Formats: sequence, structure tokens, C-alpha cells
Amino acid sequence: MQVHVSNDAATSVVTGALAVPVFTGGAVDGVAAEVDRVVGGAIADVIASGEITGKPNETSLVHAKDAPFKRVLVVGLGEREKLTASALAKYAGTAVRYLGKRGTTSIAIALPDGLDAALAASFAAEGALAATIDTTLYRTEADKPVVTTDVTILAGGYDRAAIEAGVKRGSILGEAVNHARVMALTPANDMTPTHMAKRARELGADAGLEVDVLDEKRMGELGMGSLLGVSRGSDEPATLSVMTYKGDPSSSETLALVGKGLTFDSGGISIKPAENMHEMKYDMSGGAGVIAAMWAIGKLRPKLNVIGLVPSSENLPGHRAMKPGDILKAMNGKTIEVINTDAEGRLILADALCYARKLGATKIVDAATLTGACVIALGHAASGTMSNDERFVTRFLEVVADVGERYWRLPLYPDFDTQIKSDIADLKNTGGRPGGAETAGAFLKAFVGETPWIHLDVAGTAYLDSESAYMAKGPTGTPVRAFVNVAEDLAKNGAPTNGVAKTAAAATTV
Ligand code: BES
Ligand code: MN
Ligand code: ZN
Repeated sequence: MQVHVSNDAATSVVTGALAVPVFTGGAVDGVAAEVDRVVGGAIADVIASGEITGKPNETSLVHAKDAPFKRVLVVGLGEREKLTASALAKYAGTAVRYLGKRGTTSIAIALPDGLDAALAASFAAEGALAATIDTTLYRTEADKPVVTTDVTILAGGYDRAAIEAGVKRGSILGEAVNHARVMALTPANDMTPTHMAKRARELGADAGLEVDVLDEKRMGELGMGSLLGVSRGSDEPATLSVMTYKGDPSSSETLALVGKGLTFDSGGISIKPAENMHEMKYDMSGGAGVIAAMWAIGKLRPKLNVIGLVPSSENLPGHRAMKPGDILKAMNGKTIEVINTDAEGRLILADALCYARKLGATKIVDAATLTGACVIALGHAASGTMSNDERFVTRFLEVVADVGERYWRLPLYPDFDTQIKSDIADLKNTGGRPGGAETAGAFLKAFVGETPWIHLDVAGTAYLDSESAYMAKGPTGTPVRAFVNVAEDLAKNGAPTNGVAKTAAAATTV
């Protein structure tokens, strides 16, 4: 799909349908009021009748066969005072899904006023693109759910150059989000660790990145016994994809993005119940997020160096599979007692985090569908966010405050380090049920040393089993938006230097 920009007035735009925003509280104003004059007060009528109240993503279709835009889709944006730019992704997504499912190929979208032009346009383009995804990848009869091929963002009273820059960025971001979602949708019999590496190579080449894929032999030479331990139960060989973007060759700073690429998580010998096990094809969402974000970063070209690492494996109960009680040795020499083979994500990430540091990472952000405990803590409303560096995580939370994905801090108290001490080895891979998201975070922390690091547990947010007005059900593209925004922020503002570096985690309790 193409996203264009036009300076046409909303009242004269020639298109299949025009989307206009309305707010709760009733008054038809701004662009909605202009259009309302052309359609003889029909927008005011649907509001007066209570058909639409302006709540976020509510829709009402008004026919205007004599107007150049033929139909107006009135879309709710909620309370005007609470409007933030990211709501425009949902607004545009709602419009494209509503109209695109009903045969409209070309849509014009009017922006509400009062927002930052580039940001508003970026979100609108991103949301429009994300709404076009075809989730029926394996249907044998063509059955496109959303037929929209052209979206025009109306620049209205905004600066046209800023709107164009925003649309360009948002189109890249939206396409990246869809790349991640298609990878996640692809079932595990197709999306093997080898296939993940292939996507890293293809998307890396398309964005001008260097890509290196480590096979099991090289992993063995590097001492990645933790990653290889997980892979033992499967006939599909593990891969570790490394994508390199050099946007600031003179700098010694490198941001590493690391994502769990577990292409199917059966639990291994500690096998999962059958119910919902099919959803474990999504256990590579963090890795897909890294590949897609690296593609977007290559296209957007921010001034910094970024490496993306995707450890990828299956977790199966084969006859050579790791067993509870087995002890693995990670690349940094640490020994790990495997208590539960289903806590495999942290095992493949451990070696990838060590390797990120070996490659010169000076900041690390990882994302993983890591724990059911995180879903219990935060539901599907936010991703758990843990860190060893107060400054980095404070900045991160500011930067991602309105990117269309939610992040919520969870603590990494020393108590959680104690929970994962092994009687026989350095660490054990589970710390029992209490604080399950945090003990997983504490485990990862043991492999990043002093490097400022943030861990994102996206188990509850990477995919949803219900659709919304603006998004198909299934993979959401989380954490692509956060990854890209962090890279852009570090490029623009440099590393955070104010405030205290160390967390107050040592403060005592009873
Ligand atoms: N991939 C799962 C976590 C998960 C659960 C993701 C639900 C998405 C939805 C992970 O590998 C896992 O199995 N974690 C275990 C850890 C436990 C054995 C300590 C869990 O959360 O039950
Ligand atoms: Mn598991
Ligand atoms: Zn898993």
C-alpha cells in the first residue's frame, strides 16, 4: 500500500472515502465542521442521534454521493484534552480497516489540528499500513481482508514538508511492524531457526546492513553451551543472526538489540499442556522485532551504531533434549542448572547477551516472550521493563511513553538474584513461582556485566487473541516501535548522563 500527502482541502478531495475525527463532548469543529457543511449537517446528525459519541475508534459512515469524497467515515478520537499523537495510528488504522474491509481501495485521512505535524503524520501512516496486513497467509483461495491500496494524508493547516517527513518515517515503521507480524504469524513448520536467519539476511540486505549468521559449529567454538543446550532436543539446527548497522563509524558506542527467536516452545521435557500450545509459534516475536527494527533502522539511517542479535532455536522433547537437572555452561563461563526445560528463553538469550558484549555493545535492550508470570502481573496492557541502569531505563520510559506500545517498570531487587542461586552450579534457570518475571530478569542480568541494559518481557503484548477496530488479532509488532524509537533517541540526544546510574535496588526490606 502507498501513503501519499495532499494539500487538498478535505471538502474537495477526490477519493473513495474521507475519514474525519470527532471528539467526545459533542461539538463538531475543525475539519469535521468544514466537511459537515458540504454534507448538509449529516455529521452533526449522527452525533445528535447518539450513533457516535466520539469515544476512541467508534465509527459512523455518512454517505455523500454528490461530494468529491463520496462518503465520510466519522471516527472517534476520545477527549480532546487527552489526545496524544499515538492515537492517530489507531484513528488511521480504524479508518483503513473499516473501509478497506468494505471494498474501499482509496481513502483520504484528515488530521485533527494541534499536534506535532511530523509525529501526527508518522503515526497516521504507521497505523494505516499496520491495518492492511493480510493474516490469511495460508488460505488457498485469495481472500484479501482489507483491499485499500492508497491512503492520502491531508496536510490541512500543517507544514507540508513536516507531514511528508512524518509519512516517510511512519511508512517505514508500519512496514517494519508488518514484517515482524508476518514472521510471527508464520507457523513453526515454516518459521524454523534457519528461516529466521534467512529473513535476517533478506531484510538486512534490503536495508543495506551486514548480516552474519552463526551456525551450531561456531556457537560451539564460542562456548555457547546454554543456547546449544536448548537446541539439542530438535533436529532443526539453532542459528544466531547478527545484523550490523554502522550509522556513526567514528563513535565507539554501539546499541545492541537482542530478541528471543524461539520458533516453537513445547516446553521440552518439562512439556507444556496442549491447551494454547499452538500459540508458542509466537515465541520468536522478540527476535522478529529485532529483525524488523534493524530493517527500519537501516532505512531511517539514524546517526549511531546498532547491532541486532537473534538467537533462534526450537524447544522440543527429543531423545537428545536437555533434561531437568542438567548443567549447561554459557559463553561467559557461568554454569546453569536446568530446573525446568520450559525456562528456555533465558538460556538462549544468555549466550546472545554475552556475544553482544563481545561485539562491543555499550548499551543493550532485549525483548522476549519470556514469562507467563509477566502476563499475570501486567495482563496484555503493558510489557514488563527491567534494568540494571537507572539512567538508561528512566530515559527509555520517557522515550516510549507515547509510541503506541506500553512499558511498565518491574524491580530487579537483589532478592531475585538469591532466588536463582543453584545448590550445585552458579545459577539455576527458575526461581519458583514468586516474582517469575523478575527472577527471569535477574537471570539475564547475570550475563550483561556492567553494560547498561534493559529487558522487555513482551509475553503479554507481542500477540493478542482478540481483534480491535484498528488491528487484526494475533501479532501486534511489539517491540518494533520501542526499538526504533530508542535508536532514534540515542542518535539524536546521546546517552543519558544526568541522574544516578545505579538503581536503588539495594534499599533493604524486612
Ligand atoms: N515462552 C514462554 C513464556 C510465555 C508464556 C510466553 C505465555 C507467552 C505466553 C517461556 O518460555 C516459558 O515457558 N516460561 C515459563 C517459565 C517457568 C518454567 C519458570 C513460564 O512462564 O511458565
Ligand atoms: Mn518455555
Ligand atoms: Zn519460551
